Amino acid sequence: MTEHEPKAHAIAQAARRIYGNGPIPLHRPVFAGNERRYLVECIDSNFVSSVGARVTEFERRTAEYVGAKFAIATANGTAALHVALMLAGAERDTEVVTQAVTFIATCNALSYIGARPAFVDVDLDTMGMSPDALAQWLGSTVERSPEGLRNRRTGRRIAACVPMHTFGHPCRIEEIAEVCAKWGLPLVEDAAESLGSRVGDRHTGTFGCMAALSYNGNKVITTGGGGMIVTDDPALAARAKHVTTTAKVPHPYEFVHDEVGYNYRLPNLNAALGCAQMECLDEMLRIKASVAARYEKAFEGSTVCFFVPRAETRSNHWLNAVIAGDLAERDRILKETNAQGVMTRPIWRLMPSLRMFGGAETDGLANSKWLEERVVNIPSSVPDGAMERKEP
Ligand SMILES: Cc1ncc(COP(=O)(O)O)c(C=O)c1O
Repeated sequence: MTEHEPKAHAIAQAARRIYGNGPIPLHRPVFAGNERRYLVECIDSNFVSSVGARVTEFERRTAEYVGAKFAIATANGTAALHVALMLAGAERDTEVVTQAVTFIATCNALSYIGARPAFVDVDLDTMGMSPDALAQWLGSTVERSPEGLRNRRTGRRIAACVPMHTFGHPCRIEEIAEVCAKWGLPLVEDAAESLGSRVGDRHTGTFGCMAALSYNGNKVITTGGGGMIVTDDPALAARAKHVTTTAKVPHPYEFVHDEVGYNYRLPNLNAALGCAQMECLDEMLRIKASVAARYEKAFEGSTVCFFVPRAETRSNHWLNAVIAGDLAERDRILKETNAQGVMTRPIWRLMPSLRMFGGAETDGLANSKWLEERVVNIPSSVPDGAMERKEP
C-alpha cells in the first residue's frame, strides 16, 4: 500500500463483516433452490434448446411478477433491447435519447440498428436519466414534423427514449413517462439491472411501451445468459416473439420465414434455471436489502458516503455504491480495496468518451461527469449461507 486511505479501510472492513475473510467478489450468483432439479428434468426431457415448457413458464412467471401482460424470453438483455428498439421504431439514422451513465449494451443495441445515441444528463440522487434534463433537451432541440420528432440541429428523427435504472435504483421513470407522453416519444426502459425494483408498487419496466430485462451471471438472478422483453401491447408482444424466433411462420414441416429475423430465443435449459431462480427472487431481494442496510449503518457518522436510493422507490439493491470525494480519492479506494481482496470497481466510462459515440449529441452532462469521477461499487452479493436451501 503506497498511501493510507481511511475510506478504503472502512469499506473493506464493512465488506468483511458481511462476507467474511477471503477474496470478496463484487456480485456472484446464488443457486439455493430447485436449479439442479429443473436442469436435470430439462436434460431428461431432451428439450434443451429453444422449444420447451420452461421457456413459456419463465415468461409467464416474469410477466406475472412485474405486472406486465406479456413477456418474451431472449438470449440476453442486449438482444431484448435490440428488438424492443426496432419495434419501437428506431431505424438507421434515427436518434435514440438515452443516458451517458450506462453499460455499453444500451448503446450497442441501438447501434445494431444503425441509430445514433443522444445523451442527456442523470439526476445525482438516482444516477438515472433526469426528467428535467430530458424535458429541457427536447424543448431546446426538437421540432415536430410529419414524420415525428426531429432534431433541429442534426435533422434526424428522434425514435425513442431509453432511460436506465442504474445499479437497480429506479430513476424518476414516472416523470420521464410524462415527458415522453407529452412529446409522443416511445419510451423503452432499459431495466436490465432492475428486476425486483419498484416505484411505489409499480415495477420498473412497466412505464413505457416495452422494457428489456437481463439475467446475465452478474444480475440479481441469472439464467447463465438471458433476457426478457416485457410489454402490455399484444401486437408488440406478437412481433417480438416472431422476430426473436427467426420470423418463422408456424407450419408443421415447412420452413417459411416472412422477414429477416433473429435467433434470439432463450434456450429451455436457461429458462429452467430462470424458473428456479424466480422462486428465490423475493428472498434474495430481502437479503440484498439487509446487506444495503448493514452498509448504511456501518458508514453512519463516518466520512464514507453511501448511496441511498430515493425514498418513494423500492430498489433491488443490485450493486451498492459509495461516492468518493474526488477522482484521486476514488482511485485510491479502488486500488487499496482490490489489493486487499475486496472487489470494487468504478462506474462505467461515460458513453460519449468512447470512440464509437464521441460525436454524439449531449446536453453537457454535468452530473454524469461528476458521478463518473466518484462512484465506486462495493461487494453486493447475497452472502454465503444466507439463503435457506429450498432444494429437496
Ligand atoms: C444497463 C444494461 N443494459 C443492458 C445490459 C445487457 O444485458 P446482457 O448482458 O444480458 O446482454 C446490461 C447487463 O449486462 C446492463 O447492465
